[in-house]
Amino acid sequence: MKPTGPLPPYFTASSAGELIIGGSPVSELIAEAGGTPLFVYDNNIIGSQITRFRAAMPSGINLYYSVSANPCEDVLRFIGRYVEGFRVVSAGEIERLKRAELAGIPMTFAGPGKSEREIEAAILAGATISLESEGEAERAIKAAGRLGKKPKLAVRVDPPFVIGHDGSESVVAPNPFGFDAAEAPAIINGLIEADVDFRGIHIFTGSQWLDADALIKVHRQTIDLAGAIADAAGIRLPELNLGGGFGTPCLQGEWPLDIDRVATALCDSLRESSDMLATTTLSIELGRWIVAESGVYVTRIVDKKESAGRTFLITDGGGHHLIGATGPFGEPPRLNHPIAVANKFGAAGEEVVTVTGCLCTPFDVLGDDVCLPLAQPGDLIAIFCAGAYGLTASPQAWESRPLALEIMV
Ligand SMILES: Cc1ncc(COP(=O)(O)O)c(C=O)c1O
Repeated sequence: MKPTGPLPPYFTASSAGELIIGGSPVSELIAEAGGTPLFVYDNNIIGSQITRFRAAMPSGINLYYSVSANPCEDVLRFIGRYVEGFRVVSAGEIERLKRAELAGIPMTFAGPGKSEREIEAAILAGATISLESEGEAERAIKAAGRLGKKPKLAVRVDPPFVIGHDGSESVVAPNPFGFDAAEAPAIINGLIEADVDFRGIHIFTGSQWLDADALIKVHRQTIDLAGAIADAAGIRLPELNLGGGFGTPCLQGEWPLDIDRVATALCDSLRESSDMLATTTLSIELGRWIVAESGVYVTRIVDKKESAGRTFLITDGGGHHLIGATGPFGEPPRLNHPIAVANKFGAAGEEVVTVTGCLCTPFDVLGDDVCLPLAQPGDLIAIFCAGAYGLTASPQAWESRPLALEIMV
């Protein structure tokens, strides 16, 4: 038997033993949505994450939600009430925000390979474009000229340090993101001379931070770097976008990030930072940490079989909806995300089984050698921590199977 990741602490069972999500038993949610496979997102969990962020962090900090973590329009509409803005990476994400009635909300547009069409869409949407290269700066300035607008531009800086999730330091690897730090002061001065609306700098240092000490080190070095760039450019930065990447525990041995400690250390780093940052607005852009625990992927068992002494439960879902829980192609050993039989939630484990999806590959495993209550075809499997990088981060076109349904409660 193999371990599973920690179950998020928000879920209970009905008297009939059904998983309750956002106050409703899972069978009712399936009936309302129209079937399985189904992603359910609980907006109470999203709201309580945002409240925790606000309670911990210094006031005046901007919180942006990173749309790629979960672009479901109901989720965006809900989050839009509580954040200062959104981080987008494509014209498609700008469109999603429009469809969620969030057209006028502040946006930062960061990511390599922005096309002319996307740059124009970003300028028209009033987004701040985080520039990744000189070529992109030229294209953005020209596009703004064509549109008769003053572009909002920030400089994305690739930090000259790499800090591992355990706090270790290593050499910087070349990558397509942002400008080398040494180039940043000259680029900033060039933008100011070009009379753009210069919005500051953006430094993203990675995702899935769970170790507070490591993240504190990242924040300290990022703030020092921003101060050094501002000093060298002789400019007070309007905004410093610190990136984000706060992590969510979903595998065995992972623990929640201590954001209170991160916030206290952030205040200390800001107090000790360059005077050139004294008037700078600080922003953090988070995806996973806000939505991951709100999501449950529910799939129905369609078959049960034995093979060479092992019991398999085969479901109607799989890695085409939630690739993160099955592990990328050909890269075993995978680790189990939190998993349960949703119509026997909280019941004791009775049988060691392997839960698979329906894809024609041995890698489509949702629960490897896990101990679950006795389950049969027709029963429901729930995979937790499914709210971030789920449906839209998975190869949905694989095997031309139906899309998963989504519902927010
Ligand atoms: C520039 C940038 N900002 C924010 C994010 C969001 O990261 P997370 O969902 O881990 O918070 C990403 C993710 O790749 C990113 O590249």
